[in-house]
Amino acid sequence: MSLSVQHLLGIKELKTEDIQTIFRTADNFKQVLQRPIKKVPTLRDTTVANIFFENSTRTRISFELAEKRLSADVVNFSASGSSVSKGETLVDTVNNILAMKVDMVVMRHSASGAPWFLANHIDASIINAGDGINEHPTQALLDAFSMRERLGKLKGKRIAIIGDIMHSRVALSNIFCLQKLGAEVMVAGPPTLIPKYIQDLGVKVEYDVKKALQWCEVANVLRIQLERQNKPLFSTLREYALFYGINKQMLDSLKKEIVIMHPGPINRGVEINSDVADSSQSIILDQVENGVAIRMAVIYLLSGKRDLGE
Ligand code: CP
Repeated sequence: MSLSVQHLLGIKELKTEDIQTIFRTADNFKQVLQRPIKKVPTLRDTTVANIFFENSTRTRISFELAEKRLSADVVNFSASGSSVSKGETLVDTVNNILAMKVDMVVMRHSASGAPWFLANHIDASIINAGDGINEHPTQALLDAFSMRERLGKLKGKRIAIIGDIMHSRVALSNIFCLQKLGAEVMVAGPPTLIPKYIQDLGVKVEYDVKKALQWCEVANVLRIQLERQNKPLFSTLREYALFYGINKQMLDSLKKEIVIMHPGPINRGVEINSDVADSSQSIILDQVENGVAIRMAVIYLLSGKRDLGE
């Protein structure tokens, strides 16, 4: 089993077979993670650097755990407190880390395209842990893997992505991933938060969130990314919550039970209420759990090893 790519930069570059290979490998690692000793010796001779130029809770911890479960050596780098504040460039920063015999780089950066730029300047494999408003490939993989656990094959399934589509790298990676797996995708939210180009990607667009909920089998709810908005695109958070927030009353009014997802971090009471986020319909913590197995699979497959070490 191997991938058609040397790096995981975006879902756009992956073949459907790559996604299926990652899922099959993650199935194996998920079994490992159920055991009392949740570790395999597979990457004993490998060192991975997690370099984060932007804040993270889930992705950063999940990658570090995945690497440690594979027995890799791990080094963590944060831009804050580093020589980036003295003017060191991205390429110099990473080449200095690689000079210390690091084999693989996991990078999050606020600039869209930063992992592609880096891939042209260094030899090690790069995994994109989220770049600006562009892609977040491992999030999309763990989201689709979690949907597959609930629904089986995703071919023909109806998935709605609801919220701030404009500033979301999760939305774009999810669209690419779900379409490659044969799902029907809808984006929903206020018109000011849905980019005009999105229809060119072959997704349905809906401005009425209740209609989107009626249409879908899974609703993946996204947060409002205030930190990426230079000018206001809606009046107030209270008004957003009133018109676009998902609450229990909305779900109860549907004639079916849909699956609720959210990549986190959640803004409770804005895009989603606690009575939905914490309900039995929500698989938000399953997504987090599956993230470790998915990231183990991606790191293992890019490492070139051919023995899972089970
Ligand atoms: N879902 C996600 O990327 O969360 P973090 O920003 O906490 O990593």
